[in-house]
Amino acid sequence: MEIACRVILLLLLPLNFVVAQNASRAAQELHVGVILDLETMVGKIARTSISLAMEDFYAVHHNYSTKLVLHIRDSMRDDVRAASQAINLLEDYNVEAIIGPQKSSQAVFISKLGNRSHVPVISFTATSPSLSSKSLPYFVRATVNDSAQLNCIASIVKSYGWRKVVTIYEDTEYGRGIIPYLVDVLEDIDAHVPYQSVLPPSATSLQITLELYKLMTMQTTVFVVHMSFTMASRVLIKAKDVGMMNKGYAWIMTDGVTNLIDSLNPSVLKSLSGILGVKFYVPKSTKLDDFTTRWNKRFQTDNPTDLPLKLSTFGMWSYDTIWVVAQAAEKVGLKNATFTKPGVTRNSTSLETLKTSSNGPKLLQEILQNQFEGLSGNFDLSDRQLQISTFQIINVIGKGWREIGFWTAQNGISQQLNKTKPATALSGSAHDLYPVIWPGESTEVPRGSQIPVSGKKLQVGVCTSGYPEFMKVEKDYITGATKASGFSVDRSSEDYNDFVYQVYLEIYDIAIGDITIRYNRTFYVDFTLPYTESGIAMIVPVRDSINRNTWIFLKPLAPGMWFGSVVFFIYTGVVVLILEFLGNNKNVRGPIPSQLGIMIFFSIFEGKELVQRFLSRIVLIVWLVFLMVLTSSYTVSLSSMLTVQQLQPTVTDVHELLKSGECVGYQHGSYVKGLLEELSFDRLKIKPYDPDDFHEALSRGSNNGGIAALVHEVPYIKLFLSNHCKGYTMVGPIYKAAGFGYVSLTTLDMLLSHYIPTEKVTITKSIGSQKKVNSTSNHINTSEHPILIILV
Ligand SMILES: *[C@@H]1O[C@H](CO)[C@@H](O)[C@H](O)[C@H]1NC(C)=O
Ligand SMILES: *[C@@H]1O[C@H](CO)[C@@H](O)[C@H](O)[C@H]1NC(C)=O
Ligand SMILES: *[C@@H]1O[C@H](CO)[C@@H](O)[C@H](O)[C@H]1NC(C)=O
Ligand SMILES: *[C@@H]1O[C@H](CO)[C@@H](O)[C@H](O)[C@H]1NC(C)=O
Ligand SMILES: *[C@@H]1O[C@H](CO)[C@@H](O)[C@H](O)[C@H]1NC(C)=O
Ligand SMILES: *[C@@H]1O[C@H](CO)[C@@H](O)[C@H](O)[C@H]1NC(C)=O
Ligand SMILES: *[C@@H]1O[C@H](CO)[C@@H](O)[C@H](O)[C@H]1NC(C)=O
Ligand SMILES: *[C@@H]1O[C@H](CO)[C@@H](O)[C@H](O)[C@H]1NC(C)=O
Ligand SMILES: *[C@@H]1O[C@H](CO)[C@@H](O)[C@H](O)[C@H]1NC(C)=O
Ligand SMILES: *[C@@H]1O[C@H](CO)[C@@H](O)[C@H](O)[C@H]1NC(C)=O
Repeated sequence: MEIACRVILLLLLPLNFVVAQNASRAAQELHVGVILDLETMVGKIARTSISLAMEDFYAVHHNYSTKLVLHIRDSMRDDVRAASQAINLLEDYNVEAIIGPQKSSQAVFISKLGNRSHVPVISFTATSPSLSSKSLPYFVRATVNDSAQLNCIASIVKSYGWRKVVTIYEDTEYGRGIIPYLVDVLEDIDAHVPYQSVLPPSATSLQITLELYKLMTMQTTVFVVHMSFTMASRVLIKAKDVGMMNKGYAWIMTDGVTNLIDSLNPSVLKSLSGILGVKFYVPKSTKLDDFTTRWNKRFQTDNPTDLPLKLSTFGMWSYDTIWVVAQAAEKVGLKNATFTKPGVTRNSTSLETLKTSSNGPKLLQEILQNQFEGLSGNFDLSDRQLQISTFQIINVIGKGWREIGFWTAQNGISQQLNKTKPATALSGSAHDLYPVIWPGESTEVPRGSQIPVSGKKLQVGVCTSGYPEFMKVEKDYITGATKASGFSVDRSSEDYNDFVYQVYLEIYDIAIGDITIRYNRTFYVDFTLPYTESGIAMIVPVRDSINRNTWIFLKPLAPGMWFGSVVFFIYTGVVVLILEFLGNNKNVRGPIPSQLGIMIFFSIFEGKELVQRFLSRIVLIVWLVFLMVLTSSYTVSLSSMLTVQQLQPTVTDVHELLKSGECVGYQHGSYVKGLLEELSFDRLKIKPYDPDDFHEALSRGSNNGGIAALVHEVPYIKLFLSNHCKGYTMVGPIYKAAGFGYVSLTTLDMLLSHYIPTEKVTITKSIGSQKKVNSTSNHINTSEHPILIILV
């Protein structure tokens, strides 16, 4: 049937159908070319709309003094043919406006011809943003360019929390035009496009299937399809066949497909169940309903052999375009157009001698200024394209579709159009849309990425630590290739922050290493439970607090104590002497020097024989008790001083360092740097070191180009102290951290439960502050064995 129809079309082609022949004799004729791909769905829909528009317009405006005369041409999906027909129309029919062409690739050249000959080219389907009205003033888009819907798509991606999107587009002007803009908009919402799948319009089923298999091996399960209608239905049906319309996948169609979705064969539509689509929103009206009924009838008469199609927005825009041109023609008035040929001095092709329409600028002006309420709502081309800011988001369910929400430039996405809330174009969450039935009849929002069923291997990032005790990464040259196959053993980055970030970027699935669990890292990745205690402390040099010299024997007692003891000694002697003197002790008579000697004698010795009075003896006993205590504590102090070193940290508090402005060190790449900066250390006073240089830097000291203290994590400090037990101590912890953990983007369990492994990972850990991670991999070529992570 279709072939027969095409044959008829081909036969009719050489004839020019002139639709509006009923022009009254008095009316001026304005010739308008219409270039469409008449055998496509859009072409058929538009043709019916155009002929209805001509009838309707002149039925309403029967006394108009101008009359459009349409010259409809079929470009047969061929850019060159479209161009040659445009030249033919301009040259031989003196058309003063061209409606169409249908495809962006055709529009590129034809709009340049229009620009040259001052003939407005009004296309209601050429949506590629690469066609800019700025450089081509005679190109008018009676639709909106493709980039208008991008924020809507980005909002959908954002509201479902997808971080990666694969684009599938056709390799044409239309397909390619949108892609750079789409990537930019997605980047803005922090979603990435890891892969762009491009299919030529001539792709065979096999090529499509192979490309889809390739997409299946990737992690991303969110696809944005931007293709012509026919191509998209082929690709999507194939996707259904290969199993990409199952649970876990999400598909979004751009408006090019969705606007025509009503015309899709219900059996085809059924296989697209679960897809989301973005569609221009046309408010319902009785005018539109009446028109649709008439249109359906007319379509049947125009295409008796075809399956009935539905009026789409393209049909409405083509209708409104005829109205806008007809009205503009009337406003331009009765002036017959004159066509001037540029002076030709040498032999040239007809392109160079294209005539220029004198009415062109005026007609263009009128088309742009004419604003009216059309079928599709307010039809305003003043911006050289339609002002559309409302999109409808739909979900294909079964043999039909359901509206799940709207997107407007002002409010972002919402369930209802009249909802007014302060919002931006990119705001909205999944709750702002009605629930979606996803592919595979699932109501669960696809996660957007999944572990592929085949192909990719688990990438475990192993961070080469400055501490072989913590993390030693060696390539096993004996097992060679087998071992390396499962892991990316790769010194990736000096910086732990970068390393963690690479897990977020999905360069690695898991990162194993001495990676500290930090709050701001948890925004990007998940950690396992910590496997060490941790915190931040300082390594500071210790100083012997005792000056070992000849006077050390004085050190055990403080000067006050020495003084007090001497005073007490003299006092005791004097008291006893006086008491004995009063008691008429013979021994205390005599010259002063000998009395002094006796006094000392009393104090030091009991002098039982010399002391006679009971009272003196009591005084002496008190003194002796004091002396005993003093002597024994002196002896103990002195002996401890001579045997044990009295080591004191040079710095006891981090604030002390801040105040004194001394230099502190940290390990290269550690997050401690940020911490020190937060503690308001001067940047110049913070110095990075490698573990091997800690000792040297600390021993040089702050004043000699070294550092006064090294701020580091507790496990490393313990390790350092175990190697340099002399001369250093740990002060702190000054800051609590959560310990070391392994990093993965998704929670590890989830990752492992999804993974079909080819590797076995064994991680052993020895007890104590020193930790060894021994990872071996065996190539197990079976899908029954789950991946093993054994922490011993
Ligand atoms: C077209 O012309 C026919 C007669 O040739 C007339 O009956 C008909 O009303 C005209 N239609 C319009 C819209 O003027
Ligand atoms: C056409 O007729 C309407 C009234 O039906 C009138 O308002 C209008 O001015 C007329 N236009 C012309 C060009 O005669
Ligand atoms: C369109 O025409 C204007 C002058 O009419 C010219 O300046 C401009 O370069 C043309 N643009 C293109 C893309 O040919
Ligand atoms: C496409 O449309 C958007 C708004 O809808 C506009 O900002 C942009 O300039 C247009 N791009 C082109 C090339 O016309
Ligand atoms: C316009 O051209 C037609 C012939 O094509 C002629 O009959 C008519 O008088 C012209 N009108 C004016 C206003 O020049
Ligand atoms: C154009 O070419 C023809 C031969 O093809 C020649 O006779 C004629 O003189 C040329 N005209 C000019 C203006 O060069
Ligand atoms: C919005 O429109 C819906 C119907 O479409 C109506 O039920 C609802 O009350 C309206 N809300 C507001 C705030 O006007
Ligand atoms: C975490 O914060 C530190 C500063 O404290 C900064 O250097 C680092 O880049 C941050 N990490 C991430 C992943 O944002
Ligand atoms: C890891 O441990 C296994 C035994 O569990 C041992 O044979 C192997 O040599 C160790 N590898 C390394 C690099 O220490
Ligand atoms: C893994 O097993 C499959 C068949 O199950 C086989 O085709 C493939 O060669 C094996 N791979 C290796 C590396 O042994």
